[in-house]
Amino acid sequence: MSAIAIKPDVYWIGVNDRTTDLFEGLWPISQEGVSYNAYLINDEKKALIDLAKAFKADEFFDHIGEVVDPSRLDYVIINHMEPDHTGVLNTLRRIAPQVTLLGSAKTKEMLASFYGVTENVEVVGDGDTLSLGHSTLQFFSTPFVHWPETMMTYETGRRILFSCDAFGGYGALRGAIFDDEYPDLGFYQREALRYYANIIAGFSKRVLMAIEKLADVPVEIIAPSHGLIWRQHPQLIVNLYRQWAEYAESGGEVGVTLVYGSMYGYTEKMMNAVAQGISRAGVPVEIFDAARTHVSYILPSLWARIGVMVGAPTYEVSLFPPVAQVLDMAVHKRVRHKKAARFGSYGWSGGAQKHFERLVESAGWELLDVFEFVGSPSPEELEQGEEFGARFAARIREGR
Ligand code: FEO
Repeated sequence: MSAIAIKPDVYWIGVNDRTTDLFEGLWPISQEGVSYNAYLINDEKKALIDLAKAFKADEFFDHIGEVVDPSRLDYVIINHMEPDHTGVLNTLRRIAPQVTLLGSAKTKEMLASFYGVTENVEVVGDGDTLSLGHSTLQFFSTPFVHWPETMMTYETGRRILFSCDAFGGYGALRGAIFDDEYPDLGFYQREALRYYANIIAGFSKRVLMAIEKLADVPVEIIAPSHGLIWRQHPQLIVNLYRQWAEYAESGGEVGVTLVYGSMYGYTEKMMNAVAQGISRAGVPVEIFDAARTHVSYILPSLWARIGVMVGAPTYEVSLFPPVAQVLDMAVHKRVRHKKAARFGSYGWSGGAQKHFERLVESAGWELLDVFEFVGSPSPEELEQGEEFGARFAARIREGR
């Protein structure tokens, strides 16, 4: 892809990343990819808004060069310091040593600690403006969406909000950069939720504060730094982010995430009976084998559904480790206000349930029920498991 005009004199100059296996060294994106969107305003003064990850430098500067000589840039607006948006910074400073870097006060500190940069840095405050000639940029402080230094930049004439991580998602661009150019918005919405649950969810209160702060700003285009640019339905992605942020307190929608692990198939056999009971009660259930599914793909369901059904046997007097690891990550990511239950087998001594209860307490979830059995489940126990699932689902559906 090359530089693309999103409005007169405003260009997308981003890059796709289909090479990185793990975003933040943690979250799988080898199938989906990710884009690092950056923008160029070619006015009397020439400004970049955000940059790109270091290994994409060649392609990034090629895109700038299609519009202006990179050595003639005047400003770089740094909305966010994370290196997926700043990695090419020192290369840029070698090409354009005169360039002025603008960011929040915290960004100034981080420029020194991340890149050793202390010169040609100007701090902009909340609401400050910068004239580029015909265009005016306004800066809004939005701390912790995603890091403490984060801000958003608004182009007042064309009403474009450059929102950086906010309103972004995984998913490399597939030859289209706008929401109205790509027919399967479901892919980007799914990947935006996965990104939200993996990266942003712990800062949901700050997301709601940022949305509230910008409520009266007329926005025609949401231009985030990951994923599609939203120009046909900018409110769609804002509303999704608001909905997801509100799950932090509400616990999410009626539905069940069933996370299970099974050593020799006994707990899996019971899982099928429990899932049958949940489905019989008319409640949607999504099922994950914790040992074979990266937690990145489980977190979106845990975030968005209020019910958590855990199926895990006892393993050395503890909860089966792959399931415990998923729950540990849920605690870390502040997945709260859930209603939970557990089933599972044990061979000669229990222990999983006590471990599970400690995790549930750490997560701040409400424990509704438990069903344990010894060894292989009998036909009577499978019937009981189905009833156990139906009973749990009814409580989820009825909100009690
Ligand atoms: Fe896309 Fe928080 O960096």
